[in-house]
Amino acid sequence: MNYHILTLFPEMVLNGLNTSIIGRAAEKGLLSIEAIDIREYSTDKHRHVDDYPYGGGAGMVMQPMPICEAYDALCEKIKKKPRVIYMTPQGRVFNQKIAEELAKEEDLVFLCGHYEGIDERALELVATDYLSIGDYVLTGGELPAMVMIDCISRLIPGVLNNDTSAEFESFHDNLLEYPQYTRPEEYRGLRVPEILLSGHHKNIDVWRREQSIKRTLERRPDLLTGASLSAKEAEYLKRLEIEIEKQE
Ligand code: ADE
Repeated sequence: MNYHILTLFPEMVLNGLNTSIIGRAAEKGLLSIEAIDIREYSTDKHRHVDDYPYGGGAGMVMQPMPICEAYDALCEKIKKKPRVIYMTPQGRVFNQKIAEELAKEEDLVFLCGHYEGIDERALELVATDYLSIGDYVLTGGELPAMVMIDCISRLIPGVLNNDTSAEFESFHDNLLEYPQYTRPEEYRGLRVPEILLSGHHKNIDVWRREQSIKRTLERRPDLLTGASLSAKEAEYLKRLEIEIEKQE
């Protein structure tokens, strides 16, 4: 996977992504992260990349030329026209499923806006996807791009130590992750659930699935409609729901 980030703040995304697990994955050559400074494509003598909005109004708007030229130069360099994701609160809300779909690409461009936005013509000309990271407004697209890149990268084989760990975590199968414990067996009077010390792997697996179901019901019941449960698990869920109804 090769990420290309079009931004006015290259050091922000590079500093953020070249650490920890994603940084290590880049070092290992499992992915590459390139920040393209949009300002480098300004022809203005003061290197301006923004201007006042036509029709008036507050703030500044990023001009189309530096963005389109930066994208064209990239396409020329890599000899293809990759998908361009524009970070915007007006986009589809990013989720695990979208991450899985994007992880299949070989190159991805993240277009980060600033100020009051980007000239609509630049978006018409280069953007293929509009994505948001949630219903709130940030000052720019860099943090959303970093969030998405982190999430997509952990799905690339070899990025996490353990191949299988990504698929067993929260949102796999629309269930939240079960609770985890490590040493000591007792801390401030709280004991690790006995079953986890039993060494009985089959029972532990059943218990963990049930904990996932319980947690999802308590914290994110909206996810349960998309979960695939065995007949036994569906029964367990029913019992929990009846219990909750009784308590109410
Ligand atoms: N740019 C500003 N706010 C954003 C958000 N919530 N998601 C994606 N891009 C943004």
